[in-house]
Formats: sequence, C-alpha cells, structure tokens
Amino acid sequence: MRPKVIVNCAVSIDGKIALPSRRQTRISNEEDIARVHRLRNECDAILVGVGTILSDDPNLTVKEKYVQDARKPLRIVLDSNGRTPLEAEVLKGDAPTLIVTSEGCESTFGQAEVARFGEDEVDISSLLSHLYEKGVRKVLVEGGETVIWTFLKEGLVNELKVFVGSMVIGGVRSPTLAGGEGAAAFEDIIPLVLTKSRQLGDGILLEYEVKR
Ligand SMILES: NC(=O)c1ccc[n+]([C@@H]2O[C@H](COP(=O)([O-])OP(=O)(O)OC[C@H]3O[C@@H](n4cnc5c(N)ncnc54)[C@H](OP(=O)(O)O)[C@@H]3O)[C@@H](O)[C@H]2O)c1
Repeated sequence: MRPKVIVNCAVSIDGKIALPSRRQTRISNEEDIARVHRLRNECDAILVGVGTILSDDPNLTVKEKYVQDARKPLRIVLDSNGRTPLEAEVLKGDAPTLIVTSEGCESTFGQAEVARFGEDEVDISSLLSHLYEKGVRKVLVEGGETVIWTFLKEGLVNELKVFVGSMVIGGVRSPTLAGGEGAAAFEDIIPLVLTKSRQLGDGILLEYEVKR
C-alpha cells in the first residue's frame, strides 16, 4: 500500500519553474501561496529533492497566517548522497524532517530522522510503502523538475496541480515542470485528465488526474 501522491508546481506560461540559473523566482501570486499552504496543511508529508534544497533552501512548513490550525507535516528530502547542508532551513524549526538517502550513504543530519532506500538513488516506491506503514496517507511533492519527472515516470502520482503565472521566463536551460530524461516515444508520454481549471488572481490553476 502507498499514500496518495499530489504534485504541486508553479510554472510560467512557457512551463519554466525557475530562472535559467536555477535560482528560485516568484511565480505564484498571493492567492496561490495561500492555496499551497492550505494544501500543505491537508497533507501528512511534503517532499522535495535535494536539488530544491540546494537552490531554494525552503523550510517546507505551513504558515499560520494562511490556515486556521497549522499542522506540522513531515518534511522529506530525497538525498541519495547526503548533500543536504546541516544549516538547511528544512533541518530547523519544530516540524519533523526525514532525509532519505541511498543504502550506501552513511551521512546523518542532526536531529532529523534518516531512512535509506535504493542502491544509487532513492527507491521512491519502497519509500512510499515505508511512509504508508508509518501512517502517512497523503504526500505533497513540491519539486523540483527531476523529482517530479521520476514520480510521473514511475506511475506514482495521483493528482497534479499546476499554477500558471502570467509571465514568460524563457531560457533553454531553465528548469521545467518535468525534467529528467523525458519521454523517449509517444508511449512514454504521461497522459493526464483535466479535472478542474479556474482563474486564481492574475494566474490560472489547472488540476489533473494522472491516467496510469
Ligand atoms: N516553481 C516551483 O513550483 C518549484 C518548486 C520546487 C523547485 N523548483 C525549482 O526546481 C529546481 C530544482 O530542480 P532539480 O531537478 O535540480 O532538483 P530536485 O528535483 O529538487 O532534486 C533532484 C535530486 O534529487 C535527488 N534524488 C534522489 N533520489 C531521487 C529519485 N529517485 N528521483 C529523482 N531525484 C532523486 C537527486 O540527487 P542525488 O543523486 O544527489 O540524490 C536529484 O539530482 C530549482 O531551480 C528550483 O527553484 C521550482
């Protein structure tokens, strides 16, 4: 058994999720930021890859300003080789954190819990089973492009929520909603079903179910 997986991402209209330098930029508007905090609060865990930790240093918590009863979802980082800096925001504060490395990695991260799955990179299917056993029923994947592609490719995503900000970022090297190797052929394309769309401030929120 596995938890439900929701991917949430903010993109420019050309599908980019950050600047060509991979530095974070503001794509969401205030309405979307509030929506994301409410969504985080409904989830048991919030997951990112170590690439997002290194480029954005997010704290992955629920801000009390946006929700009534802020919970403390488990913060999870996929980090095969233990590259999460000890001063990372995700290791601060009182929300619990789980750093997931590959089996050969021996790094530890202060008070954070560590789990080890997979040989070269984290085996996310095993991780999800482990999370389910721990009582985690809903996981929010917030990026970045490599991790989102892996979840989609492995057929582990139930829902995809995309906020499209009214802007163009451009740049062939800018990260996009899904990176990795991408589809090699038509059969590898990830089919989606559009379930909802609505204007959110000056942007658009698109909600999809993943077909497989
Ligand atoms: N606009 C948005 O909503 C949004 C949200 C988040 C991030 N971003 C942007 O996304 C960019 C970061 O994306 P990214 O692709 O560099 O980083 P990422 O997807 O956050 O992390 C990728 C890294 O995770 C590790 N990893 C471990 N196990 C993995 C597995 N099974 N599958 C995939 N990755 C695994 C790998 O590093 P190891 O091999 O070292 O383990 C991999 O390089 C930044 O520019 C950030 O600003 C945008």
